[in-house]
Amino acid sequence: MLAGFKPQDTDIILASYPKSGTTWLKALTVALMERSKNQSFDHHPLLSDNPHGLVPFLELHVYRESSSPNLAKFSSLPRLFSTHMPLHAMHETLKDSPCKIVYLCRDVKDTLISSWFFRSAIHKMEPTRSLLEAMFEAFCNGTIYYGPIWEHVLSYWRRSLEDPKQVLFMRYEEMKEEPRGQIKRLAEFLGCPFTKEEEDNGLVNEILDLCSLRNLKGLEVNKAKRFSQTFFRKGEVGDWKNYLTPEMENKLDMIIQEKLQGSGLKF
Ligand code: A3P
Repeated sequence: MLAGFKPQDTDIILASYPKSGTTWLKALTVALMERSKNQSFDHHPLLSDNPHGLVPFLELHVYRESSSPNLAKFSSLPRLFSTHMPLHAMHETLKDSPCKIVYLCRDVKDTLISSWFFRSAIHKMEPTRSLLEAMFEAFCNGTIYYGPIWEHVLSYWRRSLEDPKQVLFMRYEEMKEEPRGQIKRLAEFLGCPFTKEEEDNGLVNEILDLCSLRNLKGLEVNKAKRFSQTFFRKGEVGDWKNYLTPEMENKLDMIIQEKLQGSGLKF
């Protein structure tokens, strides 16, 4: 699918399993990269475009229609792209490229619940138990669009251990728990660390506020289209506890534990 994609050395690819917080990662990355250009936030790109409009998915937007799309609009460097594909699916494309990849991982049970609400919202349906049960089975069997979630996560996790300069492995829960530390980690990885002056001037908090769920959800640009709204829901850690039965919890936990065994990665 991405056969025609020739990454540039400076490209940045934001990768995630769907419903892991991709929108947040996109907003934060845009805000980090933009800060050299925007002295004030009054005309910030995040105020006039949804984060998905600013950082397109390679497989869903850029290469969907053609294997040689016109990339002229990505002339400003670094180019920012995103993907939901597992790393092994992009092996050929990325194998000789030093471009940076940021992977955002989220608790599997929260990802499932978020997917359930998202699927229901885009089909304009109530989130029913029967849909949740069907999606739960699909998660457990790995029979879903982007493949088994454990293979997805592990593909990036292993690469991040092999080459931490190329792949930064981030966790949604850590971003929620210590956003300042995590955004600084992201900025350093991307090669644009906060200066002392920026920190003293409160820029870290300003970016976090700009990209907060509450703020993005309330922006006209994200309220205007139903589809854009669906990317912003609760953003809570552990929301699955409100919906999964103890049996579902145990089954998913056991599968994930078994699949991640020996990898050093824990949920
Ligand atoms: P919930 O459905 O649990 O609320 P994605 O961006 O990969 O589609 O993931 C969507 C999930 O990220 C949703 O989770 C959504 O609410 C949450 N989210 C979106 N924007 C966010 C932000 N700025 N901060 C924290 N979470 C955010």
